Amino acid sequence: MNSHRLNLNFAGLNLKSPTALASGILGYSAESMQSIVEAGAGALVTKSVGLKPRTGYANPTVIQAKCGLINAMGLPNPGIDTYVHEIRHAKTILTVPLIVSVYGFSAEEYAATAHKAAEAGADAIELNVSCPHVKETGSEIGQNPALLAEVVKKVKATVHTPVIVKLSPNVTDITATAEAAVKAGADALTAVNTIKAMAIDAETALPILSNKRGGLSGPAIKPVALRCVYDIYEKVKAPIMGCGGVTTWRDAVEFLLAGASAVQIGTAIALRNSSVFEAVNRGVSAYLRKKGFRSVNEIVGLSHRS
Ligand code: SIN
Repeated sequence: MNSHRLNLNFAGLNLKSPTALASGILGYSAESMQSIVEAGAGALVTKSVGLKPRTGYANPTVIQAKCGLINAMGLPNPGIDTYVHEIRHAKTILTVPLIVSVYGFSAEEYAATAHKAAEAGADAIELNVSCPHVKETGSEIGQNPALLAEVVKKVKATVHTPVIVKLSPNVTDITATAEAAVKAGADALTAVNTIKAMAIDAETALPILSNKRGGLSGPAIKPVALRCVYDIYEKVKAPIMGCGGVTTWRDAVEFLLAGASAVQIGTAIALRNSSVFEAVNRGVSAYLRKKGFRSVNEIVGLSHRS
């Protein structure tokens, strides 16, 4: 594989490939993240962690939909004071940037959690302001540009690592929230988190998820995520990680052409396995070679030229 074509700098982070692990899948333990690095990921995003431990929702928390998954886990996590041990351990074995995803119920909570994560060695912080179903956090913050700006400013004043804001697609105009995040100091954006969704069982005549509503991910949302990246790239000057349904090298190339500098992969690992990273990396590399490009950077945003 011609890996020299694949490495890139994303908001100050050196990625050996344009594929990163998305938050939510296999991002708890250092060992599971290491297996994703061995599979070809250029960076890792952890499962979201908050200031205090959370049990999350009762089962069922994930169901398979046509072309994707619907999940409502409820942000289960051990709390940052416990998770710092895993971050420290991860930093001793991982060879790619570790991006810690954090959430909070106030700007102060986001900042305190981000600070502890950064102190423990996180290379960057991804702010989860887009979970579509946990009340008083996530998209309740990320859908409101003023609240979002307050969170970003507080976090930026607290940490020295790059701050990446994971945006919600559940808005009328994603460029408004993207702009608010960047104006407040965000170094980069992840577009996008899941789309609010649900499933109902015809036999029981009841919603299937215990939380009733959840977030749809996977190939079903790729065209929406792609459009979000395209819209943001047109209006906002900040590096973007494309996220939403990346399963094949062609999906990744489409996100790069739309304006993403790298892509995150999550649901494809659950629907297939972690070999998706190598398959996507190989395919992107072959595409660049075939089209005569020397690096990933050369195709970022190329679809905007007409
Ligand atoms: C969850 O833990 O329920 C999902 C988190 C998210 O969608 O951001």
